[in-house]
Amino acid sequence: MKSNNKNVNIKLRRHGQTYDEFEVPFEEGMNILSALQYIYENLDRTIAYPVCLCRMGKCGACIMQVNGKSQLGCAVRLAADKLYVIETIGNKEVIKDLITK
Ligand code: FES
Repeated sequence: MKSNNKNVNIKLRRHGQTYDEFEVPFEEGMNILSALQYIYENLDRTIAYPVCLCRMGKCGACIMQVNGKSQLGCAVRLAADKLYVIETIGNKEVIKDLITK
């Protein structure tokens, strides 16, 4: 992947209540999971998100709500300079951030 000076803005719902915003350097081909991984590794070690195995849109473990639509986090290709609001789907009980029961 090639990096540049562009960013992606991630607004992550925390603890089922509040939101935190993060600015992530844009890389061609990045997806929601890679943006969350960047946040965890570089900006905030307290975020919680599904540790998914396939990263190919097949296992369904990374289902989440992205800008109001239920989508697979690994399958959503990000565009530079856009805002992505990321939340859990439906009425599932939130354990932490994007982790549900
Ligand atoms: S990681 Fe398997 S569908 Fe996203």
